[in-house]
Amino acid sequence: MSKARRAAGSGFGELFRTKSIEQSIQDTEEPDRKLKRSLSALDLTVFGIGVVIGTGIFVLTGAVAKDTAGPSVAIAFAVSGAVCALAALCYAEFASTVPVAGSAYTFSYASLGEFPAWIIGWDLMLEMALATAVVSVGWSGYVRSLMDTAGWDLPTFLQGSAASDGFGFDLLAAVLVLALTAILLLGMKLSARVTALVVAIKVTVVLIVIVAGAFLIDAGNYSPFVPEAKGNLGGSGFDAPLIQLIFGYAPTNFGVQGIFTAASVVFFAFIGFDIVATAAEETRNPQRDMPRGILGSLFICTVLYVAVAIVVTGMQNYTRLTVDAPLADAFKATGHPWFAGVISFGAAIGLTTVCMILLLGQTRVFFAMSRDGLLPRFFSKVHPRFATPYRSTLLLGLVVAVLAGFTSIEELASLVNIGTLFAFALVALAVIILRRTRPDLPRSFRAPWVPLLPAASIAASTWLMLNLSAETWLRFAVWMAAGVVLYFSYGRARSRMHTDARR
Ligand code: ALA
Repeated sequence: MSKARRAAGSGFGELFRTKSIEQSIQDTEEPDRKLKRSLSALDLTVFGIGVVIGTGIFVLTGAVAKDTAGPSVAIAFAVSGAVCALAALCYAEFASTVPVAGSAYTFSYASLGEFPAWIIGWDLMLEMALATAVVSVGWSGYVRSLMDTAGWDLPTFLQGSAASDGFGFDLLAAVLVLALTAILLLGMKLSARVTALVVAIKVTVVLIVIVAGAFLIDAGNYSPFVPEAKGNLGGSGFDAPLIQLIFGYAPTNFGVQGIFTAASVVFFAFIGFDIVATAAEETRNPQRDMPRGILGSLFICTVLYVAVAIVVTGMQNYTRLTVDAPLADAFKATGHPWFAGVISFGAAIGLTTVCMILLLGQTRVFFAMSRDGLLPRFFSKVHPRFATPYRSTLLLGLVVAVLAGFTSIEELASLVNIGTLFAFALVALAVIILRRTRPDLPRSFRAPWVPLLPAASIAASTWLMLNLSAETWLRFAVWMAAGVVLYFSYGRARSRMHTDARR
């Protein structure tokens, strides 16, 4: 038995028992619970871009420019990208030091202790399950609009809850999730190949928007670039940002404050680069390639987002941008329906990889938690032929497919944001702690200015969280409370750290 496991304490101390880095790495060698190392830095960057560029840029840009920031939505993307860059440096340090499946969950287990790790794993499940559902619903919307053009219509009750008054099930969204589950069951290599092709199509479409759109810019649309501030954002009830309820401070639409409110919403567009870290255990040279994959994909996406935002708000006055398909519609409005069709097609294809990688990340976190005994060990058995964690993949695929069938985008996207920002803050904290507790560990990538930079990352993430509504905070609290109950009633006594210590 290892020293780390013997060291597991009892009582209150047990909650903060840590699993040593060496133990985490050793666990990846368990014969039936071992993943295949097949990914390179390029695969990881492609994965990153594959999951990051999605509903955020293709859909949210329009609504946010129209209601909250005007052309300055481009600045909001840059602000959000900066917050993510702080977090990305922390993730990169961790993923290069602890190259084990499970991302923030594993990092926290090694530094903060078992209970905080459980909390973060539970939180990541919320983030990824809901984000998969939200994006698959966005995808279904684009596909239906393409089908409309071809004259095919689904019955209203199969178009999702938003389309029908009574019972509504989003058939396309659910079918997409099930199809992707099947691909993931067959193995990483196939997933990486499919992803590479789709990412190429998606990036091409984004570049078409930027290059073709640049010729259609009317400089008049940029004036004013930062529209004048207007009234309260969310009224005074539960819809209002928490920061407003706490400090009696009133964020505005537009104006300089509007840029920051917009940043907390378009944050959704960046979600996913952290998920690259969940594939650490399947990476050939994680020490070198993890930081490259994480930082590379974040950088490329930020540049593309700012460019798209500048071009689209230049093509059409922000007040006239549409909410459902703003990029395609800006081309229609400037008399180029052909481009609009290509963009809708690219968006529909592109959103599939976002869903797939979100689903992949989620199964890996679940897998890691199950391997540690915090969730039933049954789920961490790897398929004898495909070498994938097939049981957790199947379970999560089915749950998310049902969720996608009944999800409404608006309600759940901000819940995804809060969950992710919370994980960012904990990872940054974990970087500071691990530098103190394990200064000896080889760190092939070191985040600069520790502890200042992680502290700034915690402050920036918390600040964006405060810009989300009190209602979102309440839902988040309910989910986390359920997680606490589950830990004390199941995981705490079945954790391998616990059972091994008692042997
Ligand atoms: N960043 C991903 C998207 O925008 C989740 O769809």
